[in-house]
Amino acid sequence: MEQRKPRIGIMTSGGDCPGLNAAIRACAKTAIWSGYEVIGIHNGWEGLLEHDDEVLSVVRTSGIIDRGGTILGTSRVSPLRIENGVQRVKDRFNVLKLEALVVLGGNGGLSLAYKMFKQGIPLVGIPKTIDNDVTQTDFSIGFQTAVQIATDALDRLRSTAESHHRVMVLEVMGRDAGWIATYSGLANGADEILIPEVPVTEQRLESMCEKLISRRNRGIVFSIIVAAEGAKLLGQNITQEKPAGEDSPAPRLGGVGQQLGEIIEQRTGIETRVSTLGYIQRGGTPVSYDRTLATAFGVKATNLIKNKKFGEMTALKGVRIVGVPLEKVSDGIKTVDLRAYAVASKFFA
Ligand code: F6P
Repeated sequence: MEQRKPRIGIMTSGGDCPGLNAAIRACAKTAIWSGYEVIGIHNGWEGLLEHDDEVLSVVRTSGIIDRGGTILGTSRVSPLRIENGVQRVKDRFNVLKLEALVVLGGNGGLSLAYKMFKQGIPLVGIPKTIDNDVTQTDFSIGFQTAVQIATDALDRLRSTAESHHRVMVLEVMGRDAGWIATYSGLANGADEILIPEVPVTEQRLESMCEKLISRRNRGIVFSIIVAAEGAKLLGQNITQEKPAGEDSPAPRLGGVGQQLGEIIEQRTGIETRVSTLGYIQRGGTPVSYDRTLATAFGVKATNLIKNKKFGEMTALKGVRIVGVPLEKVSDGIKTVDLRAYAVASKFFA
């Protein structure tokens, strides 16, 4: 009689990002080729609670490396916020006869994964978030694509800003970290980059406006400003937070770009337009960097499971892919390296 194959599950949790499918493909195929059966859990932890899953085959995971979103669906549902949730997850885990889970998550998703690991679910994590704010890894899946999309948007804004002699403000995502703003602003040569890590004082706002006028007087007819959604305008008595969504405990951010645009136009008299990039930076085709990082993380996650290194997360350290304890990941977020920000600031002239 043929022996039953060991089984692993894979799920995507939290906000989606480009590169998730590349990681699912890599993880599933390497696991299948190593003798595992792979179960795709639908919509994050909800799939275990609601018994919503599928067997992932080589065929099902072929041709998806370049596809945005996640073929498994995602959610921010937490078994810890549902009555008897942890037990229901454990029951389903046992019914499916899973040996371990691979959880793709951002900060929230990975700290939830760590809590579930402590509750007795063997699992490994893979960092994915356009925000790039997961600690212990240089980059997370999705970040480079978001930066490319934001850079393209800024390049396009520059050409129209030049035609109309305007100031253009672009608000990008990133929650409480300004990675997307810093990298895309650097790549575009933006004239100002506002990030949550460096709150904007009244003095900075004033000197920014003076600079915009001085650029105009020197014959530079356009200016580009990138504002991270979490940037803070001190003393403006502005609230940028909106109530949390149904499945998410974190308040939604947004609106700082619009507020900044109004202040600039009022103080400088220069016509100013504001764009909010929004979910465009989270959708669509992943750039090649995210596909390769996702593939490397997917392969590593399978290896961690084979070696029973549960409670670890795949991470990029320099050019090496390593496993790091999820425990270390779950405290705090990785904010922008202020040396990188200082490089960008050198061009604010
Ligand atoms: O964490 C990724 C992210 O896109 C943030 O940059 C943004 O603030 C948030 O998710 C938006 O979340 P939601 O999908 O719940 O609107």
